[in-house]
Amino acid sequence: MSMKILRGRVLTFLEEPQGREDHASYRYIDDGAVVIRDGKIVMVGEWNERAVSHQEAGEIIDHRPHLIMAGFIDPHIHFPQMQVIGAYAGALLEWLNTYTFVEEQRFGDKAHATRIASRFFDELIRHGTTTAAAYCSVHPQSVDAFFSEAEKRKMLMVGGKVMMDRNAPPGLCDTPQSGYDDTKAGIAKWHGKGRAHYAITPRFAITSTHEQMAMAEALAREFPDLHIQTHVSENLAEIAFANELFPNYGDYVGIYEKYHLLGPRTLLGHAIHLSHRETEVLADTRSVAVFCPTSNLFIGSGLFDYERQHKHGVRIATATDVGGGSSYSMLRTMDEGYKVMQLRGQRLTPFRSFYHLTLGNARAMSLDDRIGTLEAGKEADIVILNSGATPQMKLRMETVDSLEQELFLLQTCGDDRAIVETYVMGEPMKSALAA
Ligand code: GUN
Ligand code: ZN
Repeated sequence: MSMKILRGRVLTFLEEPQGREDHASYRYIDDGAVVIRDGKIVMVGEWNERAVSHQEAGEIIDHRPHLIMAGFIDPHIHFPQMQVIGAYAGALLEWLNTYTFVEEQRFGDKAHATRIASRFFDELIRHGTTTAAAYCSVHPQSVDAFFSEAEKRKMLMVGGKVMMDRNAPPGLCDTPQSGYDDTKAGIAKWHGKGRAHYAITPRFAITSTHEQMAMAEALAREFPDLHIQTHVSENLAEIAFANELFPNYGDYVGIYEKYHLLGPRTLLGHAIHLSHRETEVLADTRSVAVFCPTSNLFIGSGLFDYERQHKHGVRIATATDVGGGSSYSMLRTMDEGYKVMQLRGQRLTPFRSFYHLTLGNARAMSLDDRIGTLEAGKEADIVILNSGATPQMKLRMETVDSLEQELFLLQTCGDDRAIVETYVMGEPMKSALAA
């Protein structure tokens, strides 16, 4: 039996914050304890009241004055795009064709996929991200590299090979049949093994034929509990091309709707330029719109309309979308998200931001029974945050006098330097990385 107690300032969410004064939406303990046994949280409470009786049973790690929160969750990221971050391109289709589709072909090489997978998980851990939903390349060996590395580190990961059979280089295309077979083999090999969740991953409508979309539909019918991840309505030229390829489907969301790919486990990257009808369909099907601010700004795709989607009852997640996204940091992501909303005349409160990084994204991924909060019974994926991580942050902290202000400083100025430690199933992972 392994037991440890983390001491520090504990912050965890109970509900989605409804406004700046919604203090009932979170629990904050100024001198708190998180007791972990065999990878799970067994107790969260005041240091004095609860933890002391357990002290002799385990190691005590004193993280004061830092914040202890649930590990960050990134619901949309591309594992084979580590080496295209910051590629200089005008817009989405040029970016994909010039850099991304070239780079992803390298993942047919198992040694390359294995090397990058190791680096990928290092980056997630360095940035405090303990769970992600990732796109692998078209090659099954990229899926093996991804899940093997996740398994080594005991990380809860969602991922799948992209299904893509047109409008891409031959080295990056499967066929409807091989895409189906490889996905099914990937599910058999990985889904439910340790903490692995396989996601059915038709890349987007542009790179799948009707036949392949029908195969994705068949997989979704055969495996109704699996996540489905794809992209929708990211860029105007992309939308026009998708509608041209599927002329009788009404609109972009209508394509996925007709193939029965929408539902509560469907993660739709971007979802920026949606019609009223499309928004209603996402809300009705409980599909998730994934806001990817650093990517949407970097590729110039558009300003996600958070308030409109939220008002319509669309479930919203927030994600990096590396390598269209320019940072692995979920703090940087929320900072850019905040600015996108500012440009739309909308406000994102600091508490709502940190809700998204943790419980909000766990709910969007239907994983909130296991991760996203600090409470007894949850898996012990935890991040330790230092709000004075840089000289500038430390100086600014001198004038911060509320938790709300502190969170906003972390979001506005924080990055991997603010992540003191990342625990996965109760084990310290960041400090264990090779320097
Ligand atoms: N649409 C289809 N594939 C991709 C991708 O890899 N990145 C982004 N940002 N959009 C996509
Ligand atoms: Zn993406």
